[in-house]
Amino acid sequence: MITSPEVRTLIQSHRSIRRFEDKPVPQQVIDDLVESARWAPSSHNVQAYSIICIRNQSTKDKLQELCGNQRYIGQCPVFFVFVMDFYRHAVISEQNGSAFEVEEIENLLVGSVDTALAAENFLLAARSYGLGGVMIGGIRNEAAEVAKLLKLPKWTVPVMGMCIGYPDQQPWQKPRMVKQAVYHEEYYQTDELESQLAEYEQISADYYTKRTNGKRTDGWGKQMSAYFAKKRRANLTDFIKRQGFPLK
Ligand SMILES: Cc1cc2nc3c(=O)[nH]c(=O)nc-3n(C[C@H](O)[C@H](O)[C@H](O)COP(=O)(O)O)c2cc1C
Repeated sequence: MITSPEVRTLIQSHRSIRRFEDKPVPQQVIDDLVESARWAPSSHNVQAYSIICIRNQSTKDKLQELCGNQRYIGQCPVFFVFVMDFYRHAVISEQNGSAFEVEEIENLLVGSVDTALAAENFLLAARSYGLGGVMIGGIRNEAAEVAKLLKLPKWTVPVMGMCIGYPDQQPWQKPRMVKQAVYHEEYYQTDELESQLAEYEQISADYYTKRTNGKRTDGWGKQMSAYFAKKRRANLTDFIKRQGFPLK
């Protein structure tokens, strides 16, 4: 049995890294990150993900543009795209002469959970090498263009990107929602929610105020209200349908 308090320290010291040293990441390190991703648990062992490693500068630049011009995509030494992937399952079903039923939302959940678990294993392993990174949901902004650029086959969907490199910044840790609001014993409890939200509003507003020297003062609640006031990535559903998931 392996016990290691260092693993907990690693997990609990997480912060996203968005600025990197101009230093390449050795291939054997990347191979080991992929190995860590491969050992993530998987729903029904479907292993419905693939990882694409991108070092080519012009591909990174193009992806930066497609992800809403997030400059750290072009700047990081290596960028990864984590793809929900049922292509292998389609191939094997055809080989076995079986039906291939993927029209339920269930499959999208299974695939995106598998992909996310692999991605988090990958990021944690990267941090164990002194690397840092940030996940990039912006990869879904222009999913069809990303699919064309990366030659993604049918039954695949890019779920997230990930910038990886040696950190050239030490950002503060972003405070999380107060524990009592996300952790429930025996049943879901809402009695204290208002005061918990108010507490987190204060904590998060203080954090942003200090981090930005007063340029940004809104807390988590205000940010979330603005975020959910708009529809997001409305063209994604059509793309997912075109990729072979009929979605009833
Ligand atoms: C699936 C996923 C997608 C994300 N997409 C982006 C992104 O496109 N751009 C970005 O700058 N950060 C992105 N992030 C990072 C989050 O903004 C970040 O994790 C969150 O604000 C908490 O900050 P922390 O990771 O530093 O603790 C993403 C995180 C996740 C988990």
